[in-house]
Amino acid sequence: MKNKGKHTVCIHDGEIKDTQFGGAVSPIFMSSSYPFLDTDPIRYPRYFNTPNQEVIAKKIAALENAEAGLPFASGMAAISTTLLAFLQKGDHVVFQNEIYGGAYNLVQEEFENFGIDYSFTEGVEVIDFENKIRNNTKVIYIETPSNPLLTITDIKAVAELAKKYNIITMIDNTFASPINQTPLNFGIDISIHSATKYLGGHSDILAGAVVGSEEQILKIFNKGKNLGGNISDFMCYLLERSIKTLGVRIEKHNENAQFVAEFLNNHSAIEKVYYPGLQNHPNHDIAKVQMNGYGGMLSFELKEDFDAVKFQKALKLIKPSMSLAGVESTILMPTLTSHALLSKEERNKQGISNNLLRLSVVIENIVDIINDLEQAINK
Ligand SMILES: Cc1ncc(COP(=O)(O)O)c(C=O)c1O
Repeated sequence: MKNKGKHTVCIHDGEIKDTQFGGAVSPIFMSSSYPFLDTDPIRYPRYFNTPNQEVIAKKIAALENAEAGLPFASGMAAISTTLLAFLQKGDHVVFQNEIYGGAYNLVQEEFENFGIDYSFTEGVEVIDFENKIRNNTKVIYIETPSNPLLTITDIKAVAELAKKYNIITMIDNTFASPINQTPLNFGIDISIHSATKYLGGHSDILAGAVVGSEEQILKIFNKGKNLGGNISDFMCYLLERSIKTLGVRIEKHNENAQFVAEFLNNHSAIEKVYYPGLQNHPNHDIAKVQMNGYGGMLSFELKEDFDAVKFQKALKLIKPSMSLAGVESTILMPTLTSHALLSKEERNKQGISNNLLRLSVVIENIVDIINDLEQAINK
């Protein structure tokens, strides 16, 4: 069936037919041993090719309009393997200034040991990326919407710039999910996910995924089988089950987060709201072009006379949590968690204040989410 809708792809692409019993869902194959005589190993979990691993590879590739995909044991396994597949000693990579804290740590703590040089941009305009390109730049890596300030980078513009210089582009597409954003359609080479977040969606999976062309995925496969960040078949089974409802979950996340963003934006206790779906977001026009929906993540700053720690403690329904994108709404203070290791000056430079809170708005009834925020503000 050609040109299927995304919900149909979520449910059916890649699925394994149960030819033995005719069951409705893909069976789970836990075997790590398959027939082998004197040719290359046919199937082996570290070769990314067990039946359940292949389900995820096909489904995620179909969702992002890519030729091929690979599942990983975590988002960080996907990010590190993909970067190392395209970067060698003596190469240089340009990172967007705002990227996920774990990816930032990987770069800061490991890249010097590998002899890989890197630069972070000053901002997210095309010129900010172009300013950092050198003769040995092999990769440009972006994240949009970014964590935690929901900054929007113009995907098509960055992809066009990179093509001009023959540079590979990678995006962390976790916050958008493949339902809200398909970066390959805008010229990006490789899209990466922490599947622990929206793809998993129920706070019970650690996983990652990468999609790209056959040629690029082969390169990542070759690095991946050496590094060994492979996902188990049981996780693949859970992930397949989760992705079946990805489309409906994301539609509800989009709707609820837009409502909460507008509520906070008009609230006298709130200094600022960061959400790409708001007209006053500085890159709302770009988001409108490259996103199908604005996602479930938003950040906001309480006015100075409020105490963000007390506010968090007063919440009853919304839980403080490092993670996001489950079915229960969660909140986090970047200064105490993801950005705790940065100096105050660095945080100020990035616009991360003490009263900034990152909220993952999910699928509880919207009235309950709003009531919880309101009662905590009043306290
Ligand atoms: C945007 C983003 N990318 C990557 C990761 C890393 O994913 P994982 O925790 O699955 O390794 C995270 C985790 O929070 C994330 O939020």
